[in-house]
Amino acid sequence: MESGNTLRWTDALSIGNPHIDKEHVRIIELYNKLADGLSKGLDRRQFAEILSGMFDYSLFHFKHEELYMKLIEYPELDAHKEQHKAYILHVSQLNANFFSPDSTEPEVILTFLGNWWRNHIQKADKQYELYKQAHHPEMDIDWELLWLS
Ligand SMILES: [Fe+2]
Ligand SMILES: [Fe+2]
Repeated sequence: MESGNTLRWTDALSIGNPHIDKEHVRIIELYNKLADGLSKGLDRRQFAEILSGMFDYSLFHFKHEELYMKLIEYPELDAHKEQHKAYILHVSQLNANFFSPDSTEPEVILTFLGNWWRNHIQKADKQYELYKQAHHPEMDIDWELLWLS
């Protein structure tokens, strides 16, 4: 069921790399779980649980992307890492303050997450894949091995 704030996976979100797309699909799923839950009156504790699960998955995903960007010698790696770092800092603060009296409203958190992911995937993530295709089109990647490194 689609509700007001859910994000639909479309080609516009694909960066053209199925290994990375798969992880983005998972992130969008977790985001939609939050959006859907909120419109159905999920309680704060349940919201916090999904939020924290989504945060953990983000860490896992960022690590994968950073390994990949390093492998393809992406020149913007440091700037991209900074974006991940800023997200981690911001969302870990949202998590930590979630039950405090001055916590951010779940709707505001949701809007931030939706905008951040859509924007980051379509702009920053797409750029490293374009770089890979332009500069290392023949590079064959052992994804299993890369994820283990
Ligand atoms: Fe990503
Ligand atoms: Fe990224």
